[in-house]
Amino acid sequence: MATLNVDLGSRSYPIIVGADLLGDRALLSPYLAGDEVVVVSNDRVAPLYLDRVTASLKDRRLNCQILPDGEQHKTVGTLQLVFDTLLDNHCSRDTTLIALGGGVIGDLAGFAAACYQRGIAFIQLPTTLLAQVDSAVGGKTAVNHPQGKNMIGAFHQPVCVVSDTRTLVTLEPRQLSAGLAEVIKCGLICDELFFSWLEDNIEKALAYDEEVLEYVIIESCRHKAQMVARDEKEVGERALLNLGHTFGHAIEVATGYGNWLHGEAVSAGMVMAATMSQKMGWLDKAQCDRIRELLTRARLPIDPPVAMRSADYLRHMKADKKVSGGRVRLILLEAIGRARLVSDYPDALLHEVLGEFSG
Ligand code: NAD
Ligand code: GLY
Repeated sequence: MATLNVDLGSRSYPIIVGADLLGDRALLSPYLAGDEVVVVSNDRVAPLYLDRVTASLKDRRLNCQILPDGEQHKTVGTLQLVFDTLLDNHCSRDTTLIALGGGVIGDLAGFAAACYQRGIAFIQLPTTLLAQVDSAVGGKTAVNHPQGKNMIGAFHQPVCVVSDTRTLVTLEPRQLSAGLAEVIKCGLICDELFFSWLEDNIEKALAYDEEVLEYVIIESCRHKAQMVARDEKEVGERALLNLGHTFGHAIEVATGYGNWLHGEAVSAGMVMAATMSQKMGWLDKAQCDRIRELLTRARLPIDPPVAMRSADYLRHMKADKKVSGGRVRLILLEAIGRARLVSDYPDALLHEVLGEFSG
């Protein structure tokens, strides 16, 4: 078992990573605000893991909210179901909300916790690789809007994150690959050595090698925890964690939530960002090829959907959260392991890239 810390002063919290942690009463109890606990999960994860969690909370007043599974349910309407449960059970301000599931449950339950009575404690129990390496850490919570991904949300940090690596054994291979997209992103943004290590070990990760996955989670969380500690509310450096997301979010919205997995859209988006970086004269062809090759070996798409047109990207990119002064800001790569937030790129280059990737 390894423990990392997200250093945010009085709101600091641990990320605990290891096998068979779900159901460990001693791990959770120091982080429960009071007697009342509400566990939020979905109808795919709950049959697999809810019993273990509830068994460890037997001495608490416990309620569970099981939501329908899927990105298409990450909505204000679904959020209302969580508020209904909290209110129906007269949950007070010292209730702890526990999110058991992937990034969709973590983001939605976290946002419910941010809003309910202006903020209650919440714990992340992430069960997908994507959530364990990225979404459960850092306190970004949100639901989607038909016009834009994660557009309705808040920064609300969890009080702890417990990543049980054993839960990954039931994860579908496609979902494992989607998680690896965020892992590769982490290497691309800030750690060339980690990227090279992934080139040597990606097949082991795809084979669910427990040691390799644990290392991947710890390394990704270590980098993310440091960035979040330096820039919690994304006024600067944290934006780099959105490499590939401006293009990726456009793909997710345009194709309908849930059709392209978030990690898949980010993968294609990172290739688009790398291509733009090459046109800026920053990456060379060999580096772009390395990126494409690793994503392909991770069984991720490197081309966006053929039906997407330049106009589709531009329409959705205008709604990106990184738009500033009407200008779409992009995360580009100066090298593998070094990302940069850019607003002064030539528009013609962006149009060239969008044209090349349009069907
Ligand atoms: P997800 O939550 O939809 O989970 C993927 C699928 O795996 C779902 O069907 C889920 O029910 C199932 N599942 C979860 N755990 C399982 C397990 N152990 N065994 C079997 N099946 C399991 O998707 P995700 O990829 O985890 O998360 C994507 C979401 O995360 C997106 O909404 C994205 O916007 C968000 N996200 C947020 C942040 C952040 O910083 N908050 C960062 C990255 C992504
Ligand atoms: N996934 C982007 C962030 O947490 O900032």
